[in-house]
Amino acid sequence: MDLGIVGRRALVTGASSGLGLSTARALAAEGVSVMLVSRDVDRLVEAAATVIPAHGASVHVHAADVSDPSAVSTMVRSAHEALGGIDILIANAGGPPPGTFASTPFDAYEAALKLNLLSTVAMCREVVPIMKENGWGRIVAITSTSVREPIEHLILSNTARAGLTGFLKTLAREVAGHGITVNTVQPGLHLTGRLAALYPDPAALASTIPAGMVGDPDDFGHVTAFVCSEHARFMTGVSLPLDGGALRGLQ
Ligand SMILES: NC(=O)c1ccc[n+]([C@@H]2O[C@H](COP(=O)([O-])OP(=O)(O)OC[C@H]3O[C@@H](n4cnc5c(N)ncnc54)[C@H](OP(=O)(O)O)[C@@H]3O)[C@@H](O)[C@H]2O)c1
Repeated sequence: MDLGIVGRRALVTGASSGLGLSTARALAAEGVSVMLVSRDVDRLVEAAATVIPAHGASVHVHAADVSDPSAVSTMVRSAHEALGGIDILIANAGGPPPGTFASTPFDAYEAALKLNLLSTVAMCREVVPIMKENGWGRIVAITSTSVREPIEHLILSNTARAGLTGFLKTLAREVAGHGITVNTVQPGLHLTGRLAALYPDPAALASTIPAGMVGDPDDFGHVTAFVCSEHARFMTGVSLPLDGGALRGLQ
């Protein structure tokens, strides 16, 4: 299927590994020029070499910590310049450290909110005016199924991502009339560095997932690219779980 986004330009953060990288790869394969962002420039350059753009699209990198709002401003300016515009934002970063209510100090909440909530608010403040001017935009945040079913040992992630989902749902209705869609994609368990950091034997988690497998980041990237497609223009304010059937709830 042609997603109808050849020539579009995407800023993808948290893109040197895992789900951000797979999304950048899937977009580039559809002819979208991409700028990959993460903190470590060497890892970024290595990751960018695995992105194979189609239809004359280009690949760029920019090192930034998205939890710093001034770095976000610089990043958006740099993406706008390198790509000639921004049509798509994939808002993503690493996850906060694990912990329970008892083990988590107050300061850790501030860091987690900066990383997994305020970073996306800052990015949206910068890219929404650009997208409004174009009359077209796609904003997709990578969150977690923990928004629907909080995960016991991830209190920081549960807290920050629920707030982000509320922010984006509100934004979605405000900008829908400008041709901009705002959605979140909620990963369940996917085989990435983050999963390996949280669980000693990630592959063994397959037995806990009805689909009988841990998620493949490439599949995740293709679904997220579809959310950015022309065909998905009527889909906004949606939170889409990708979890192999792990969630039990109806919503
Ligand atoms: N994989 C899963 O099963 C799963 C499940 C639920 C939710 N999630 C969430 O989905 C998101 C992506 O997960 P993943 O598995 O792809 O993680 P990952 O493999 O650890 O990748 C995280 C990416 O974000 C970058 N990053 C981290 N902190 C950053 C910062 N402050 N500024 C800019 N870039 C930053 C990392 O590069 P640098 O460290 O070099 O900056 C890396 O490129 C995370 O928030 C994760 O918690 C993942």
